[in-house]
Amino acid sequence: MKPKVFAFDVYGTLVNPLQMSERLVELVGDVAPTLTQLWRDKQLEYSFRRGLMGAYEDFSVCTRQALQYAQTVVGVSLTEEQQDQSMAGYQQLVPYADVIPALKQLQDQLIEAVAFSNGSREAVTDLLTYSRVLPLLKQVVSVDAVSSFKPDPKVYGYLCQSMGQNPRDVCLVSSNPFDVIGAKNQGLQAVWVRRSAQQVFDPWGIEPDLEVADLAELVAQLN
Ligand code: 2OP
Repeated sequence: MKPKVFAFDVYGTLVNPLQMSERLVELVGDVAPTLTQLWRDKQLEYSFRRGLMGAYEDFSVCTRQALQYAQTVVGVSLTEEQQDQSMAGYQQLVPYADVIPALKQLQDQLIEAVAFSNGSREAVTDLLTYSRVLPLLKQVVSVDAVSSFKPDPKVYGYLCQSMGQNPRDVCLVSSNPFDVIGAKNQGLQAVWVRRSAQQVFDPWGIEPDLEVADLAELVAQLN
């Protein structure tokens, strides 16, 4: 695989949104993992629904509304201040251990790497600055520019257009199967980062070009 650009998904691929459980445990106790998983699942569902409805709002709106929903389902109640703190925590996730070494190797090899996310350009830039990943990337590409969300075909089209590349020369790297399938559907190459053996790929008959356990394995496969 020799794409001209690697586009890295952010939440779930470079940083782990489920890390929020460690912060939430202080606020809600043992239900923190359940709350965090539901928060993430609902955040994505809200983005899918907003994309289909043509009712775009910044991804942070999906995130905040999903937190409100998840609290109600789990039966906990965070104060406004605690919700604000939790939203701020989402901007301070640390990268997976393999991320910085792998991106450094790509940079050393002059392989172009960008971030590509549902998050707004500003939010992703802040997050990746905090996590020290930003200097290893050429730029941040956000779906915000086209007011829709993954896996809308137009967001992958926008990514390729921003890079000035044909879809076949752009490779999405994502831990999210829906994102991998979305990219393949638009003619991009795609790598699935299966960060946990429990993760299952959707049986749609659309397969990633490569499956790896982490970004270290991706870099090793390129050499
Ligand atoms: C991202 O776009 C899908 O949350 C994922 O960063």
